[in-house]
Amino acid sequence: MPKDFIALCDWSAEDLLAILDRARELKELLHGGVRPQTLQGRSLAMFFEKPSLRTHVTFEAGISQLGGHAILLRPEQVGIGTRESPGDVAKNLSLWVDGLVARTFSHALVEEMASAATIPVINGLTDLLHPCQVMADLQTIGERADLSRSVIAYVGDGNNMANSLLYGAAVLGLELRIATPASHRPAHRVRKRADEIAGRSGARLHWSEDPAEAVRGANFVYTDVWTSMGQEDERDLRKSLFRNYQLNAELLAQSDEAFVMHCLPAHRGEEITDEVLDGSRSLIFDQAENRLHAQKAILEHLLGVNP
Ligand code: CP
Ligand code: NVA
Repeated sequence: MPKDFIALCDWSAEDLLAILDRARELKELLHGGVRPQTLQGRSLAMFFEKPSLRTHVTFEAGISQLGGHAILLRPEQVGIGTRESPGDVAKNLSLWVDGLVARTFSHALVEEMASAATIPVINGLTDLLHPCQVMADLQTIGERADLSRSVIAYVGDGNNMANSLLYGAAVLGLELRIATPASHRPAHRVRKRADEIAGRSGARLHWSEDPAEAVRGANFVYTDVWTSMGQEDERDLRKSLFRNYQLNAELLAQSDEAFVMHCLPAHRGEEITDEVLDGSRSLIFDQAENRLHAQKAILEHLLGVNP
């Protein structure tokens, strides 16, 4: 089993399914008022270079519900790369805490910290990947349908969400159709690795430029912002580039009465209309809730808890 939770492609289907099973169990327990103290006395450092609502709060609340606690570190406090090298920061944290969640621009930075750390490092989003979000998304899909029989469509920017969905679908052998402009396909190295894994798992991964084609007959339609954190200077350009990829009622009508998914935050009126985001098929708050349960299960798994 890998030490770190950085990319879903490093994990086996067996491990990911075990985490999802435990996430379901933890959700039921919490809804019944039960908070198993499986991480009593454990500490989690959280380093965020970018803003966050969901990832920050769900990791902090999650570990405290399990009996542990979290410590938030801001870049200006730590000075990674200016005050101290990433490796030295990771080695120091390994002496004091049990795990590290890192949200960074550079994916290589999380990998560098993980290779220096002796504690598990969890990717809380990088420019390349957002694996914790996909675990919550898979939990959400599994609450509505049989994952292996579901057709999942992703429409919009081939960004960290599209990349992570590709890895999740590849490992678990799912059907995922991605529609993006040709200039903004998911990262080449991610597509290559996902295709290799799909060759073994039987996943059906499909890409096109046509959102209607991707959505036709889909059971779940996912989108994400056109302008991710750090790309704000390109917002006008991106609004024009992606204008045919908006998830609106007309596009959704092409699906098989699909459920609507979005990792949030949303740029309402850009990649998705209010009508669809707030509509009866929307699962956005289930996804947001499941961040808590999925990440508690990830923490337990990485920290060797056998519930
Ligand atoms: N979906 C998600 O990761 O939200 P935050 O950026 O608020 O953490
Ligand atoms: N693609 C978005 C996801 C936010 C959770 C971003 O990176 O800003």
